[in-house]
Amino acid sequence: MSTRRNFLKLVAGSGAAFGLSQIPFLSGCGMHSEARQPLRLPAPFSGGTMTASVGPAGTGAAPLLTYGGAAPSPTIRVRSGEMFSVMLNNQLGEATNIHWHGLVTPADMDGHPKDAVAAGGTRTFSYQVKQRAGTYWYHPHAHMATGKQVYHGMAGFFLVEDAEEQALSLPRGEFDVPLLIQDRRVMDGQIMPYEPTMTDMADGFLGDTVQINGVLNPFFEVAAGLYRLRLLNGANARIFRLAFEDMRSFAVIATDGGLLEAPIQATAIYLGPGERAEILVDFSADAMNSSVMFMSLEFGMPAPSGGGHGGHGGGSSSIPRNGAAMEVLRFDVKRAAPAKGTVPTKLATLTKLDPAQAARTRTFELAMRTGVTSGMHTLNNKVFDMVRVDETVPFGATEIWEFKSLDDASIHPMHLHGAQFQVLSRSGGPLSPTDQGWKDTVLVFPMETVRVIVRFDGYRGLYLVHCHTLEHEDDGMMLNFQVM
Ligand code: C2O
Ligand code: CU
Ligand code: CU
Repeated sequence: MSTRRNFLKLVAGSGAAFGLSQIPFLSGCGMHSEARQPLRLPAPFSGGTMTASVGPAGTGAAPLLTYGGAAPSPTIRVRSGEMFSVMLNNQLGEATNIHWHGLVTPADMDGHPKDAVAAGGTRTFSYQVKQRAGTYWYHPHAHMATGKQVYHGMAGFFLVEDAEEQALSLPRGEFDVPLLIQDRRVMDGQIMPYEPTMTDMADGFLGDTVQINGVLNPFFEVAAGLYRLRLLNGANARIFRLAFEDMRSFAVIATDGGLLEAPIQATAIYLGPGERAEILVDFSADAMNSSVMFMSLEFGMPAPSGGGHGGHGGGSSSIPRNGAAMEVLRFDVKRAAPAKGTVPTKLATLTKLDPAQAARTRTFELAMRTGVTSGMHTLNNKVFDMVRVDETVPFGATEIWEFKSLDDASIHPMHLHGAQFQVLSRSGGPLSPTDQGWKDTVLVFPMETVRVIVRFDGYRGLYLVHCHTLEHEDDGMMLNFQVM
């Protein structure tokens, strides 16, 4: 493991363009085989009823929990402006619901945990999709059970199209690929059940093996052309710093809330749990039958507060901590592309929110406390209460929300329901490519202050602000705000 990490540092540092895929990798935990499986794409959702159920038996010891009988959950595609409606039939044997992450829906359609559907129950979700084209997603948001239900398979893409995006000559069809990136604890080829320890609740439940679209250790056979990859970090707690092993540059074209104004060239991007990024990557210069690894690069994290190897960021020493290098997806270039794709120079028109219009600044302090067995992370010194209204926001108001981390140990991906925002600043440095555009989730690094601007002009009602590390969310790092 450490050899690989040092080698990666070397590659990242020198910008060398040779292939790491020549090197026989050891697996993250050394207890499972590295046999790679072909990538699968999620099935399309055909509409009507979505049944939440257990099984079919998954890869391993962990039960598979599904929407629509498959993991990952089926991909929903809608056109902006359309009405969307689905009936959830809960055959899971426990309460669940559906939250439409990134979509601004009426509050009673948003999948707030207070609106969970009891075992055996049904609920119809119906709303107009007002979002711009983009890569959104859906997942359960049941009280204290989000981490478990997502880990065991419930998460899917919600792709929105619109005229502005369709008018661009972006890669389409088989060249437009959704990638749900997660990590799992695997032993002897089997996914271990979700049984978080106290350390996992503190640090987040991290895995040792990357799973994409439900496939452990995948490879993907591609043509030597331009691809649009829709990256969704659906991991419970792992933050990825995504890059190609040869540090080739790619174009970031969209973030959480859709297209950017223009592509941003990057060689590595951070993607925290809940965040999305769309990138254009070109394989046209790759030799036939060559491979390139898409990976998560090592990044610095503060010294573990718990002490010991892998302390903060891993439930046990065999689990790579947050910030450790990991392989994500091997691309195998297998055939010629039908045409040479080009990256558009201009993408979309974005309305910038003006800080001068902000009625006020609201601060959320992110803190960690020790000596407690629950509520280890707090927002403004509070842990989640289902019915308590923590903040009241006037409908239509523009506000600056400031996430102020007093925690030196964890990165917190902060997420809002009911609105998309724009990132204004981060105290730790300049904005990154994945901070650009319309956002609903933003990484807050240890001891950092991140300011976002947001206008609450969607709907009135009760919405959530929380950390998208699912163990932190389930442990109460979440507040209610009422738009009224
Ligand atoms: Cu994707 Cu409240 O979450
Ligand atoms: Cu959400
Ligand atoms: Cu957190």
